[in-house]
Amino acid sequence: MTSLLDKFPAIGQLKSGLDHAGQDPTGVVFDTIHSATEAVANGRDIILAGTNNYLGLTFDPACIKAGVEALAQRGTGTTGSRMANGSFAVHGELEAELADFYQCKNAMVFSTGYAANLGVLTALLGKGDVVLLDSDAHASLFDGCRMSGADIYRFKHNDVASLERRLVRLADRASRSLVVVEGMYSVLGDCAPLADIVALKNRFGASLLVDEAHSLGVFGERGCGVAEAQGVLADVDFVVGTFSKSLGAMGGFCVSRHDVLGLFRYVSRPFMFTASPSPSVVGTTHEALRQLRARPGLKDTLWSNAKRLYCGLQKLGFELGPEISPVVAVRCRNRESALHDWNRLLESGVYVNMMLPPATPGGASFLRCSVSAAHTVEQIDTVIAKFAALRA
Ligand SMILES: Cc1ncc(COP(=O)(O)O)c(C=O)c1O
Repeated sequence: MTSLLDKFPAIGQLKSGLDHAGQDPTGVVFDTIHSATEAVANGRDIILAGTNNYLGLTFDPACIKAGVEALAQRGTGTTGSRMANGSFAVHGELEAELADFYQCKNAMVFSTGYAANLGVLTALLGKGDVVLLDSDAHASLFDGCRMSGADIYRFKHNDVASLERRLVRLADRASRSLVVVEGMYSVLGDCAPLADIVALKNRFGASLLVDEAHSLGVFGERGCGVAEAQGVLADVDFVVGTFSKSLGAMGGFCVSRHDVLGLFRYVSRPFMFTASPSPSVVGTTHEALRQLRARPGLKDTLWSNAKRLYCGLQKLGFELGPEISPVVAVRCRNRESALHDWNRLLESGVYVNMMLPPATPGGASFLRCSVSAAHTVEQIDTVIAKFAALRA
């Protein structure tokens, strides 16, 4: 007789494979966090080079003050969902600021970026609808599509011709389809060809959702993301994103030029059946968004650091993602060499992300660095030097 628990020994074996190489990359504990770029792990000083803290706002004094004040004035939590328990005024104020920032009429805040993707996709799509999903899309997008019950067709990553073939094959159903892509992709740091995708979806009367989780505050003159940078923001039907990366907080959002977004509140289960973001998180997020808007210099520093790291590692001969971006992914020979090098970097005081299949494009293994505006030039050069030492 089989049991529900039979699958776990195989998972346990995978986990002990990770332990075997040294520190388990999924179990790193930072005993102390000193700043956006420095921490202590296992008694060792570490440069944080894998935190998605693109604008380095996690220790920004104004963001901390806003969070502390909200905590003192409005309490520790909301203790329920907005549907059942009502909203705090700050939820609506954050939504108004987001709508203003994106120059969109409608905005909706969720408790996480993951919930935003589930919430928007399940509200929008149902049985009989079609979703065309980039093959490298984040798990939250895939999960949301699956939960919606729509028919899912994947197209080749960033391949407009592959998307076009799918749309042609859909014939009359194309106008009931949703194209789902990311702005900047999280593993390799490459960007979607949004201008071409917009032209295509307009031709077929399809709709487009862009997840700008990694591009908010990073791309575009105002920092709205890749759609703004490519001049097509007004043509995107739904932009989703997270507060947990460049804004250094937690939560997710959707903005849209379509008024129906206002009705998603009544049908979106990941919005209706979970507690709303706590006042301190909303306070911090709101202040971080103000900082993003008021300090374009943060984005300039981020890009200068990104170029320095990308070019430095490229000069050393590492195989990197296809374009310079704040996500710098170093391709490894195989899973074992990724594990080995990741451990050596940590021992030498540099924390990066280890990305292993199946969560990676093409089943390859990567050491993924993410750059911050808060990194100093010296820290970037130290990271480059520690990578160079892997080859010594
Ligand atoms: C592309 C993308 N979308 C959504 C999310 C989920 O965001 P959150 O961590 O805020 O739930 C992530 C998180 O890694 C992501 O990379």
